[in-house]
This record gives sequence, structure tokens and C-alpha cells, in this order.
Amino acid sequence: KTYTDYFFDEPAFDLHDGGYVPLEVSDAPAKPLNVPPLLKPDKETATDVYYTVTAEAGETQLLPGPKTKTWGYNASLLGQTIVYRRGQHVHVTLKNALPEVTTFHWHGADVSGPYVDGGCHAPVYPGESKQIDFTLDQPATTLWLHAHPCPETAEQVWHGLAAMVIVKDDHEESLPLPRNYGVDDIPVILQDRRFHENNQWDYRADYDPDGVAGPTVMINGTVNPYFDVTTQKVRLRFLNGANRREWRLHFSDDLPFTQIGGDGSLLPEPVSLTHLMMTCAERDEVIVDFGQYHEGDEVTLFTDDVPILKFRIHAFKPDHSRLPDKLFTVNAPAVDPALPIRHVVMQGMDESVAIDGKKFEMQRIDATQPIGRAQYWDVTNSNEAPGMVHPFHVHGTQFLVLSRNGHAPYPNEHGYKDTIGVNPGETVRLLVRFDLPGVYMYHCHILEHEDGGMMAQIETFDPSKPKQEYKLMDMDTL
Ligand code: C2O
Ligand code: CU
Ligand code: CU
Repeated sequence: KTYTDYFFDEPAFDLHDGGYVPLEVSDAPAKPLNVPPLLKPDKETATDVYYTVTAEAGETQLLPGPKTKTWGYNASLLGQTIVYRRGQHVHVTLKNALPEVTTFHWHGADVSGPYVDGGCHAPVYPGESKQIDFTLDQPATTLWLHAHPCPETAEQVWHGLAAMVIVKDDHEESLPLPRNYGVDDIPVILQDRRFHENNQWDYRADYDPDGVAGPTVMINGTVNPYFDVTTQKVRLRFLNGANRREWRLHFSDDLPFTQIGGDGSLLPEPVSLTHLMMTCAERDEVIVDFGQYHEGDEVTLFTDDVPILKFRIHAFKPDHSRLPDKLFTVNAPAVDPALPIRHVVMQGMDESVAIDGKKFEMQRIDATQPIGRAQYWDVTNSNEAPGMVHPFHVHGTQFLVLSRNGHAPYPNEHGYKDTIGVNPGETVRLLVRFDLPGVYMYHCHILEHEDGGMMAQIETFDPSKPKQEYKLMDMDTL
């Protein structure tokens, strides 16, 4: 079976919003898609790996004419791609070479909050560095790194502070999947920007409390990109790295593609689709089979009706490999019957956004949960139809999506996730378990909603240990 719809509520699509910024078909010269290089470890042993990640300012040639002032991680824009191996002890030096405070948030990583996780309680001041270390015990997937200082997350990400993180493990490597990075395994970081005078970005000028958007698509920091296809099958790691924009992806000829992974793991089974909608911060891994095309053909990726990425087909060897029917086993934890259902309500629009009637307070703990025990979270978007889809994200965990308004989740939501689009008037039931004690944020991932206060935080604890103290920043000490 091949699914042919976007699943989400059509009247809530961002393109119906009064403030929607339509995309323009780029007239910039076509350029090869930038594939961020893999970040080289400073050192690697059998058990440990050492990286340095530097947040820095630079200039990037995005359009003909003046370069654009941009920020990035070990790069002038976005970043080098970081690879972690499950079980490996990772040491990262975080360096801030920017003129202002930032944080390094590992979105989707099972690491402890509030410091290692890099939320707003983990500032790195200009000119300073910090060391963190952790060992990931989570399945192979695609995560990302982005800035998260509150309330400047949106502006810093707009400047370019976002990079892809790939987690590898033995299981994924035992499957017949493309994994030759840059050749048949490609990051696709989807973003949009508005270019002002002299090709500069101006976040303030473009500000909208419901999310900043621009008319120009930028993929991996490339405007008007094409990709040279040299293998029959190509794996695309889509990341919605936009502040606000939803992507509704489909190919020319309605070419079907196969989704193999979501935010936090492979999917239990491959899902065949012709259309795919991504809300902010979500990742979707798909495999595109170009077998029906020939050298010289061109296949186009669209969002809505706007072409955004061209695949130029070159000669390739026929690939008769078949995807296994089973990709991944979800070991769903049993819900703990002693824990009540947690209700979380995302409410409001514009400046009035809040969670459970409150705006984010850095020093307020809004909820608690024991580690190692799974709890139902019923997450509601109280906007009335047509409203907007709020992408709900929890730090420090990968959850399972159990239902949407009592119905089955969408067919491509059966793996682990850390971000889930919630339709207006909808309640999504999640099964959430934390493995590490700490303080973790949960929020809408429209970055301006998050900065605007649609965010809260939970403290997780080990009931068998004395209560821990955390140093929580506030806006003034930051
Ligand atoms: Cu991408 Cu608070 O997260
Ligand atoms: Cu996060
Ligand atoms: Cu929102």
C-alpha cells in the first residue's frame, strides 16, 4: 500500500495562515547541493571519541553578489555533520566564538538535562568553552544540534546555528540500506530565509510572533540546489530546520518513496508514501528509488507546488536490493498504572501562547516524573479549527505516539519520536519515559512560540536517591 496524503488537518496547514510567507521559485543560478562535511574527531580510541564544536560567525556565498553574514558550527553556516556511535563514550568541547551567549542543544539525544542537554540552563559565554561527556544508548537515527538560549533560540537558529547529528549502531548497519555519506546517504536540512539589501538576513525586520519565515528555500545552506544521483537508491535524511515553516514534500511524477525512519529510530516497517508533511524539528528518513529513470532525466522535489531540489540522474548500476519487511523492533515499555495521565495543553497564538495557562519561567519546575517509568502524556492543542499545528517536543527522551483523538497515529509515526505535530482541537497520547534524572524542557517547536513562552520544564528523579539540586538560570543571570 502506498499512502498519498499528508495526514495532518488540511485547514490547519501554515499556508492558510494570514501571515503566511509564500515561497518563491528561485531565480538564483542552480548550484550543487552542499553536503556538510563530517566533523573529524580530535581523537578516537576503541571506546572514546573527542570532538570540538565551535559556534562561530562567518560569511557565506548564498546568492550572487555580496556574501551573507551567517553563523554555524565549525562552519560559516549550519555545521559539519557529527556522527556518534551508540555505546561510545563521547567527549565534546563546546566553544563559543560568537559575540553573544549561546547554548548547544542536542535535540533528540538521550542525555541528561539541564546541562549536558544544552537547553537554556547551559550557557556558554562568548570566548569561553565547556566540556561535556555522555554515552548515547539509543538506536541509530538522525538528531540535530541547535542553539537554545532563552529567549533567543529562534534568532540564533535563523542566523544558522543548526547542524545534523547521525547516530549509528550495529543493528542499522546490518540492514541493506544506503549509508555512503554524501553519495547515497544525504542530509537534507530544509529552511527558508528572506534576503534583504546586500543579501543580508534581518531577523528583527521579519519578526512574527507566530514564527518567522522567508520566501527563499535554503537546503543545507544552498539556494536553488541540485543533487547528482549516481546510485539507483538514495537515502535522504530530511530535517525540518525552519523556524516556522511546514514542508509538504512530494516528487515529480508522484514518485513513491519509502520512509524508513523518524525522529528517534527506524520505523518498525518501511512505509510507502507519495506525500510527506514535516512540522518543525521533525526528521524523516526516506529512500528514493530512481530505477525508472535514465541518465539525463531530472526528478524534482516539491513542497506544495514549489520546486525546491532537483535530482539530476546520471548512469547508475541497477540495484535489486530489497528492503526488509521488518526494520526495527520497538520495545514499548508498559505504562506504569500508578502514574496518573499527565495533561499538557498548548494554547494561544501570537504573543498569547502558553502551556497550561502559563508562560515559561526558567526557575519554575512545572512537572515531575520518576525515571525508568512510563507515563501517558495527553498533549492537547486547544486552538480552534482552523488554527495551526503545534509541533510538541520533549527534551531528553524518545516517546511513542499511541493515539490521536483516540484513533491510530499516522502510519509513519510508529517509531520513536521526540517531536509530534498536534492538530487544532486534537489530543495526542504519548508514552513517555525518562532514563536519566534532570531538568528537561518541553515546548512547541515553532521557535517563536517557544521563545514566546509556549514552553515548560519537568524534573525527573530517581526515587531511590536523595533529591538533586540543579542550578537553574534566570533571564537576568543569563
Ligand atoms: Cu529542538 Cu528545546 O529543542
Ligand atoms: Cu530538544
Ligand atoms: Cu506553536
